[in-house]
Amino acid sequence: MNKEKVMKILNSMTLDEKISQLIMLDHTLLSDNGVETGPQKKLGLAVETVNNIGSLYNIVDRNKLREIQENYLKKSRHKIPLLFCADVIYGLKSVMPIPLGFACSWNPDLVNKCMELVSKECYDSGIHVVFSPMLDLVRDPRWGRVMESTGEDAFLNSCFAEAQVKGLQKDLGVNTVASCIKHFAAYGAPEAGREYNTVDMSERKLHQDYLPAYKKAIEAGAKMVMTSFNTINGIPVSGNKEIMNDLLRNQWGFNGVVVSDYAAIQELIDHGVAETPYEAAKMGIEATVDFDMKTSIYANNLKKLVTKKVIDETLIDKAVLRILTLKNDLGLFENPYRGIELEKDEEKADLKNDFRSLSEESIVLLKNDNNVLPLNIEQKIALIGPYAHEKNILGMWSFLGEKNSFLTIKELMENMLNDNLKYSFGSNIMEDLSTLGFKIEANNLINDDFEIEKAVKIAKESDIIVTVLGEHTLESGEGGSRTKLEIYDKQIKLLMELKKLNKPIVCVLFNGRPLILKTLIENVDSLLEVWYPGTEGTKAIVDILYGKINPSGKITMSFPESIGQIPIYYNEFKTGRPLKESSHFLRFTSRYLDSPNEPLFPFGFGLSYTTFEYSNITISKDKFKSGEEIEAKIIIKNTGKYKGKEIVQMYIQDIFGSVVRPVKELKGFRKIELKVNESKEITFKINEELLKFYKSNMEYGAETGEFILFIGKNSQDLNAIKFKFIKN
Ligand code: BGC
Repeated sequence: MNKEKVMKILNSMTLDEKISQLIMLDHTLLSDNGVETGPQKKLGLAVETVNNIGSLYNIVDRNKLREIQENYLKKSRHKIPLLFCADVIYGLKSVMPIPLGFACSWNPDLVNKCMELVSKECYDSGIHVVFSPMLDLVRDPRWGRVMESTGEDAFLNSCFAEAQVKGLQKDLGVNTVASCIKHFAAYGAPEAGREYNTVDMSERKLHQDYLPAYKKAIEAGAKMVMTSFNTINGIPVSGNKEIMNDLLRNQWGFNGVVVSDYAAIQELIDHGVAETPYEAAKMGIEATVDFDMKTSIYANNLKKLVTKKVIDETLIDKAVLRILTLKNDLGLFENPYRGIELEKDEEKADLKNDFRSLSEESIVLLKNDNNVLPLNIEQKIALIGPYAHEKNILGMWSFLGEKNSFLTIKELMENMLNDNLKYSFGSNIMEDLSTLGFKIEANNLINDDFEIEKAVKIAKESDIIVTVLGEHTLESGEGGSRTKLEIYDKQIKLLMELKKLNKPIVCVLFNGRPLILKTLIENVDSLLEVWYPGTEGTKAIVDILYGKINPSGKITMSFPESIGQIPIYYNEFKTGRPLKESSHFLRFTSRYLDSPNEPLFPFGFGLSYTTFEYSNITISKDKFKSGEEIEAKIIIKNTGKYKGKEIVQMYIQDIFGSVVRPVKELKGFRKIELKVNESKEITFKINEELLKFYKSNMEYGAETGEFILFIGKNSQDLNAIKFKFIKN
């Protein structure tokens, strides 16, 4: 439909009809026969309003969606189709590893392909918009939602932001869905890692670190933005004109739809910045938030605001126009049943190969003493632990992942090893499920002490013990903040009992955040970080355990050594008393008395079954001006016994600036594959763009001076060379 026709519809709508378009509800608010439902009554929503709402979220059944759309359109005066949104974050039925896992692939191209497939699966289920990707930068693993993020670095997050949005929206209007990026903005920095807590940071940090990924996603064409629950500079984002209107819309030019996070406009009252629902509605609409998710704040207050002339009706018109435009861009006016046409069967895209590769590339080998891994099928294995025969491995934001499409690690290994495999449960994942904050029946809890005895017994007869441990899927994700980041102590007790047998121990670890791994790492020979690895995950794990695939993932969030180090991230600012180079007496340097400053595993760290040797860096010239560039080269050689993939990382330090600069910042990376003995020369180009930052006057630009260029295996293991950026 052309723009004029969309305008014509808008101009023919009553104020009530327009306000209804701004409402997004869940399915409990709908009734088929126009009779008021309980939840509607509770919210105080008129039946007429509900009959005209603009959008529904989190219904993912194509037959149900078709029925809803048919009933809705029958009653609709303007035949404006409903918009169906859903929380599909990293996969619907076929599920990718959680984002903190897939980021370890450092492979945005592969993530882009997988997201395209996710999008097709969603399209075929009748979904129009997915609330994905989550682009919040994270530096505090106490916060449960780090699992949804690609990590602590603005540059890497931006690469994944672009890849995900472009993948999801590849054929928008034809056969993919629209992307709603979230949670704008800076939701990843709640104080003390406590969910829904205050966010307060300097303007510079916000712009330098927290905003770039969202900005990249907007530039990549994301159609929708979700507000975050948190405050920025004292004002909750869903009512924050400066962030939503001035920054997102005016400065960045975003003209798409903004949706509040779940009840976030109403929460302006709980935050104490709006006294009444009426004021909350005013703040929301003035901040240009188009959809009110889950509440009746807009429904019951916007009209009064217009009739009392507190707000201009054009504010509402603009919001409705943005929503109608999105519906039009999706082709809904031409085909309200896109993806769920009657004659079409649900298509099942074959996602397996790309999903499998992504699961493989997301797994990180954190330790491998004496090359205990890879295993060989002649060895007698004792497979022990609560995740060995568990299918609940898709992470908190997967609701419909197809668990019957894959086998457990135990089942896969049984098929390979027959008598060489003995399995024992070992321990519960955790004991007291009531602490998870849901009503979960602790139904199949087993006596841990008895299980440990059984496990030790089978371990005695084995050559190698493979433990499969981890945190509960519901310990991470939304509302999953924790102050202790170890795994359940009975799992540790199990490990300590096995350790007494003096046999090599491998640990496969499932989790949604960087855990404190000190005890674990000291008591195992090999540690494989597998996150929540997706529907192809168990196959990827077994292939890595047996060396069919060489692990290549590298972590994108530092693993702290202790809780007290949090927040810990590689690109911290330089201090006046750095531990290593300070002339001050040790006591009076920036350090802890009882812990190193460094994390247990730094950003960018990950091992392989092979080894890679880096030559010294060479640069094409040691100074350059605006408009010019330097080429930096390094040779990497596979010096080990296996073919393998290596993630080569480039960082830059600005030695002197008008404001304090980070000790280093990631500015490039390359993923290469090398056969045994093979070498490759890698070239990175350094130009003015890579040196830009928010200067003392908040202008974004580069300053002349001296820099250090680092290239290497991770944020700590690097080769360095200096160069200069000089005046023209
Ligand atoms: C979460 C969002 C999610 C929304 C809708 C909120 O609680 O913060 O990420 O998209 O609920 O389910």
